[in-house]
Amino acid sequence: MDYENLFSKGKIGKLEMKNRIVMPPMGTGLASSTGEVTNELVRYYEERAKGGCGLIITEIARVDDVEGVGLANQISVTNVNKITGLEKLARAVHKYDSKIFIQLHHPGRQGHSMLMGGRQIVAPSPVMCKTVGEMPRELTTEEVEVLVKKFITGAKIGQTAGMDGVELHGAHGYLIGQFLSPLTNLRTDKYGGNFTNRMRFITEIILGIKHICGKDFPVSVRMDGDEFVEGGLTLSEAVEAARYLESIGIDSINISSGTYESGVTIIEPISYDQGWKRYLAQAIKDSVNIPVIGCMVIRKPEFAESLIKEKTVDFVALGRAQIADPEWGKKTMEGREKEIRQCISCLHCIEQLSLGTTTKCAVNPRMGRELEFQNFEKNGEGRVVAVIGGGPAGMEASRVLALKGFKPILFEAKDVLGGSVYLGSKPPLKEKLNWFLDNLEYEIRQLDVDIRLNTKPTIEDIKVLNPYAVYVASGSLPIIPPIPGIKGENVCTVVDVLEERVCIKDKNIVVIGSGMTGLETSELLAEMGNKVTIIEMMNKIGTGIYRSNLYDVISRLEKYGVEMLPSMKLVSIDKNGITAENMISGNLIYKEADQVVLSLGVRPNNEIVEELEKNFSVVKVLGDSNKPGRIADAIQTGFEKAYILE
Ligand SMILES: Cc1cc2nc3c(=O)[nH]c(=O)nc-3n(C[C@H](O)[C@H](O)[C@H](O)COP(=O)(O)O)c2cc1C
Ligand code: SF4
Repeated sequence: MDYENLFSKGKIGKLEMKNRIVMPPMGTGLASSTGEVTNELVRYYEERAKGGCGLIITEIARVDDVEGVGLANQISVTNVNKITGLEKLARAVHKYDSKIFIQLHHPGRQGHSMLMGGRQIVAPSPVMCKTVGEMPRELTTEEVEVLVKKFITGAKIGQTAGMDGVELHGAHGYLIGQFLSPLTNLRTDKYGGNFTNRMRFITEIILGIKHICGKDFPVSVRMDGDEFVEGGLTLSEAVEAARYLESIGIDSINISSGTYESGVTIIEPISYDQGWKRYLAQAIKDSVNIPVIGCMVIRKPEFAESLIKEKTVDFVALGRAQIADPEWGKKTMEGREKEIRQCISCLHCIEQLSLGTTTKCAVNPRMGRELEFQNFEKNGEGRVVAVIGGGPAGMEASRVLALKGFKPILFEAKDVLGGSVYLGSKPPLKEKLNWFLDNLEYEIRQLDVDIRLNTKPTIEDIKVLNPYAVYVASGSLPIIPPIPGIKGENVCTVVDVLEERVCIKDKNIVVIGSGMTGLETSELLAEMGNKVTIIEMMNKIGTGIYRSNLYDVISRLEKYGVEMLPSMKLVSIDKNGITAENMISGNLIYKEADQVVLSLGVRPNNEIVEELEKNFSVVKVLGDSNKPGRIADAIQTGFEKAYILE
């Protein structure tokens, strides 16, 4: 396909971009604890510039080191001593004719006192964010005036370091957004009340930056098209704000949505379609003449092209797509779309960041570690490696081994590759997993990996190959505890359902266990017309599942009327139902069921390992067959254990 619009030059103010691909801001946690740009951070952005991105907007940079900290390891633009690191970053991006803006940020009521040395968080008004759960202190008028200056200083520091522009983070419910939103700005001074007053904070910042940095220094504003919270900013107010911001001289507007209280609309879970919030960007685009940047779960090149062609936006913002594949732009331009490693919207990245570590990507193990994994050492010399198991770990290991010049032979017992990810794609709204698998399979086929489907090799079969190493990636097996009745004909596992070994329609079903697989299989069963009850021993449904993913699936289960019973331990099963113990009261309950579906976790499928170790000197165990985990763990071990093979 011809991506004539996507690869046409674009302009923000007087600044020219080589194409229309933007990387929107995404925190990495790769800066130093004192706010310096590190070599890891430079390399991470440099790869995205090299990979074809026209404009990179950095992750949130703080303008206030005391009450404005957004991340433990966050870029700071509070002091000229940060300029050297920022210069390095700007230079690295410019090497590839890409441009870079720095995003200026203050968390306001969405901050955490833990990150501010225990100080109370601050906000326009003392309105608590339910997700954070900390009551903010209202900023005094003088403090707001000081903050305006801090944003201007941050912009000047960025400009001095060679940044091509700044973006003010006015979206996602952070401080600037809090001033704009009638829900969070209850002030009675000049910064609160009517529209003009609520816009005053950002207005003073913009005019100040233009005054200090010059009118040609681009200022972009990231804004919500809708906050998706009751009483918050709506599309009509966003349109009004966008028009107003244009009138005071901003150079572009970057449309997003949501606040922490509607977090699934900021960083969407897997169920959200490409372009689901297209109408927000379109409404703004139809109302202003400055360039509009739009973020709306953009993954596929054809879709990105259509957004520009159809004048929904001037620039497409692909966030996670470029975390997952730093070469998204380059591959698209070169017609290598099938080589794009697809983001699966699993939220592992933001989950890791919010746990206080660095951002990591489930499908791109090099993310944030680009310096560590620079080149594949071509040391394979055609040596054979038997890889047992064609799930994500086995496929990724095969890919890396092939790139290193080994000759991987990939065995898969089933007639299809993908393992647990293939099964995971069966429940509703999970087709992004197939996009990812399509890419993995395409890549290993391009690399001429010898793929043997429907083959479960014996030790003798492997010996015949005389392999240099054997990689075991045979996945996991369901845990089936010794509970009375568990072997009954009316009992099956989630795997049986997903593999369609049992077909259950219009029945009364009890699912035991509320991990992600249990919940998603329940959704599938409910969609098939069954009446589903989930029982869970823990005191909460979905313990350990990242909150946005949990919210997403639970809200759909609720729509289907699925009954969810936490604190219930399975005691026994008979042919008409199950008995469970209420873990709080100790009472027994009986639930009638035509079918019982077990989702009680998995254990490594690694029985063959011991025997392999007796016969081969190099045996490596990957993914679930080593330790059950998520896609991220499978891909990570597959990659790393292949990368280090000498
Ligand atoms: C790990 C992570 C960190 C993010 N950090 C920021 C940030 O610093 N500033 C910001 O405006 N948005 C941030 N976002 C939101 C993204 O810019 C983007 O709006 C969101 O990921 C949805 O777009 P996508 O589907 O293209 O990824 C972050 C998203 C992720 C996944
Ligand atoms: S971790 Fe998941 S959601 Fe985040 S970029 Fe990677 S694949 Fe996408």
